[in-house]
Amino acid sequence: MKSSASAVSASAVSASAVSAIAVSGLRKAYGDKAVLDGIDFEVAAGSVFSLLGPNGAGKTTTVNVLTTLMKADAGTVRVAGHDVATATREVRAAIGVTGQFAAVDELLSGRENLRLMADLRRVRSGGRLVTSLLERFDLMESADKLAATYSGGMRRKLDLAMTLVGNPRIIFLDEPTTGLDPRSRRTMWAIVRELVAEGTTIFLTTQYLDEADQLADRVAVLHQGRLVAQGTPEELKRQIPGTHVRLRFADLDELDVAARVLAGSTRDDEELTLRVPSDGESRSLRVLLDRLDEHMLNAAEFSVHTPDLDDVFLALTENTSTKVAAR
Ligand SMILES: Nc1ncnc2c1ncn2[C@@H]1O[C@H](COP(=O)(O)OP(=O)(O)O)[C@@H](O)[C@H]1O
Ligand SMILES: [Mg+2]
Repeated sequence: MKSSASAVSASAVSASAVSAIAVSGLRKAYGDKAVLDGIDFEVAAGSVFSLLGPNGAGKTTTVNVLTTLMKADAGTVRVAGHDVATATREVRAAIGVTGQFAAVDELLSGRENLRLMADLRRVRSGGRLVTSLLERFDLMESADKLAATYSGGMRRKLDLAMTLVGNPRIIFLDEPTTGLDPRSRRTMWAIVRELVAEGTTIFLTTQYLDEADQLADRVAVLHQGRLVAQGTPEELKRQIPGTHVRLRFADLDELDVAARVLAGSTRDDEELTLRVPSDGESRSLRVLLDRLDEHMLNAAEFSVHTPDLDDVFLALTENTSTKVAAR
């Protein structure tokens, strides 16, 4: 991607040539309820971008606007270089969408669903394509059974297979693994990775931080209508306290002593815990334990904590009214 871009003359390469998706100042309200309150992001071609947020955050609304199904109230959105507001047809020709709720026709078999899609998209030698998709998604055995008899995981796979008919360059996946068993989830992840390896751009929404961590090149966290954080999973993790050891003591006296002798620690009097920055390696842990011994301190609990995206998410969305209201 990079080398071919640099081979083209600089003037021919505009920002939109490398941005598969460019969103600026996007707003959307339902009635007087603002769901998207001015969001901006860009997705590089050939990358995976994950929009992360809890139920009701506005993920599907974003997907709907980006895929021309819904009009924005304000802002500009370009997908595959085209404005979604004015070039609906061009945008639709470049994208594939797998919605949150499977678009599979239950009264048709898996093969028939795919065949129908191939016909709609006027794919030549559709039969061969259908067979190869059934094989790729491990649906051959059930190909001629009604989709109504498929498990949730099989339906999602069929839905995604249908999205791939016509080779869209940009694919939108709205919560592709919500409600799937761990095994089907892994299969979906593997397929996403294959698509990216082929150069497809993926816009993926999820409520699962580990999913974004596993798949995404960049992540944006949607909270109360705004993107409260954006970056690579590693960058986001760096925004919050790093690896540390957590110690819990039996009483305040012990906590007092421990807080004094362990440099750089942060105490929580209510929880009777102490957080000590550490690289988590065995040598530093031994030094820490020796320190406790020297002062005849005993930690009732001892754990090494490595931050993950869950911590980022909690840190970013702490102390907000919606969280309290959701309880
Ligand atoms: N058509 C609609 N009319 C009114 N409110 C809606 C509509 N669609 C979604 N909402 C509300 O907008 C918010 C965001 O919804 P949605 O984009 O579906 O979030 P997510 O996909 O992140 O769960 C929610 O509070 C939802 O109830
Ligand atoms: Mg949704």
